[in-house]
Amino acid sequence: SSSGQVGPSFRRKPVIIIVVGMAGSGKTTFLHRLVCHTQASRIRGYVLNLDPAVMTLPYGANIDIRDTVKYKEVMKQFNLGPNGGIMTSLNLFATKFDEVIQVIEKRADQLDYVLVDTPGQIEIFTWSASGAIITEAFASTFPTVVAYVVDTPRSSSPVTFMSNMLYACSILYKTRLPLVLAFNKTDVAQHQFALEWMEDFEAFQAAMRSDDSYMSTFAQSLSLALDEFYKNLRSVGVSAVSGAGMDTFFKAIEASAEEYMETY
Ligand code: GTP
Repeated sequence: SSSGQVGPSFRRKPVIIIVVGMAGSGKTTFLHRLVCHTQASRIRGYVLNLDPAVMTLPYGANIDIRDTVKYKEVMKQFNLGPNGGIMTSLNLFATKFDEVIQVIEKRADQLDYVLVDTPGQIEIFTWSASGAIITEAFASTFPTVVAYVVDTPRSSSPVTFMSNMLYACSILYKTRLPLVLAFNKTDVAQHQFALEWMEDFEAFQAAMRSDDSYMSTFAQSLSLALDEFYKNLRSVGVSAVSGAGMDTFFKAIEASAEEYMETY
């Protein structure tokens, strides 16, 4: 039931969590972990898979794009390669997305979160018309938050870290939705270094200088711009494998949902 204090056009629940991240960052494993966590904690979750090309899912999806769109058929029918096939499948699904919203609206009173898995290639969702349509459809109906999954061990070099953050930054400005950075795989590498770099601009610059023999003024300006970006998000360390950080993650989602309710 709704909490009563919210604006007339929005329900407080469910909160939509759109999970995005670079290929291999661990989106699917992370989603599986979120599903296990919600079930164990009696949080009422609903799962939506938007990856038409995934072979097997470790979790059960309540709504699965693969039930509606046959990715291999789409590839054949339109004579497309793998990425074109995924893109076109998502386009086809997006045309019927109002039906997905209706299904969720019907169950809204029984749900706390809707967990959304996106295609492996991040740009297929974040830089496509259908990705924008789907995001918009969610965000105009429910509090919606983006969870950006980061491969922590693979972001330990300052340059890789900066590229990853620039990508996250572009998603923040494109979707204009609250963003939670989920530093994943903390069972392999702790995300402390990332927090330090995000809190202390000079520490990051120093790392940058020692990483490459030279630091361009361009890279310097970029890291300055990122400093502003970091103020607009929440970061948590998680491990999809060990399950560490789940409570902190959901706290960050709750705070982001609050922010959403105040802002939109
Ligand atoms: P695609 O959608 O196929 O691009 O990948 P994805 O982002 O969904 O990643 P996936 O869940 O397939 O995980 C990629 C690899 O990272 C797999 O080998 C996972 O086992 C591994 N992985 C995911 N999360 C963790 C984690 O928290 N810790 C460790 N050690 N490995 C992880």
